[in-house]
Amino acid sequence: MINPSKHAKIFDKHAKIYEKRRKKTTIDTKFRKKLLAKASGDVLELSVGTGTNFPLYPDIHSLTAVDFSEEMVRYAREAAKETLYPCTIIEEDVEMVDFKENTFDTVVSTLSMCSYPHPDVVLEQMAKWCKPGGQVLLFEHGISSNRVASHLQQKLDPVVSEKIGCHLDRNIVQLVENSSLRVTVVESHFLGIFHLVFATIE
Ligand SMILES: C[S@@+](CC[C@H](N)C(=O)[O-])C[C@H]1O[C@@H](n2cnc3c(N)ncnc32)[C@H](O)[C@@H]1O
Repeated sequence: MINPSKHAKIFDKHAKIYEKRRKKTTIDTKFRKKLLAKASGDVLELSVGTGTNFPLYPDIHSLTAVDFSEEMVRYAREAAKETLYPCTIIEEDVEMVDFKENTFDTVVSTLSMCSYPHPDVVLEQMAKWCKPGGQVLLFEHGISSNRVASHLQQKLDPVVSEKIGCHLDRNIVQLVENSSLRVTVVESHFLGIFHLVFATIE
């Protein structure tokens, strides 16, 4: 398993590319908009990157965002200067950070479940940090439902995870369904690789 500081440095190296992409409308923008339209109240965003989601939030009360890459956080802090809601960005490993139970109305993760060493543990933390009746909103990629595509993803996974820091072969929907989150809607796209997951806490 890759050590966290080495892992964060992989993302440091790619932060400039994420920052360029942040300023563009890309193929994923419509999925982000659909997901984040449901966000409300005090929001926690895990692994925020450079802040691509910031302008897509509706009228939320506050945003707390976490990321362990120094470079990503640097860009995200700049991007946060433009938000209309108060935004706090914490430079920390999501697997190490802790918040009080039942703190947030909405917990968000976009394109990040692929990178955690223990995604099942992170999902349980999300369930813990979210208030009962609150929402957990995910836009994630994982192993395809198409046999050919999934075979390719499995072959590429060792190289991609080492170079880019992200796994291609995770069964995201199953991970969420096995967690304490109660899934309300799942939408899958592009050969079942990308998923929008709307979940709640009971
Ligand atoms: C693929 S990028 C996605 C960024 C952003 N969420 C988005 O949708 O554009 C993954 C992000 O997760 C962060 N990340 C990965 N593992 C992390 C961890 N254990 N703790 C904190 N941040 C992490 C990386 O630094 C990077 O910013």
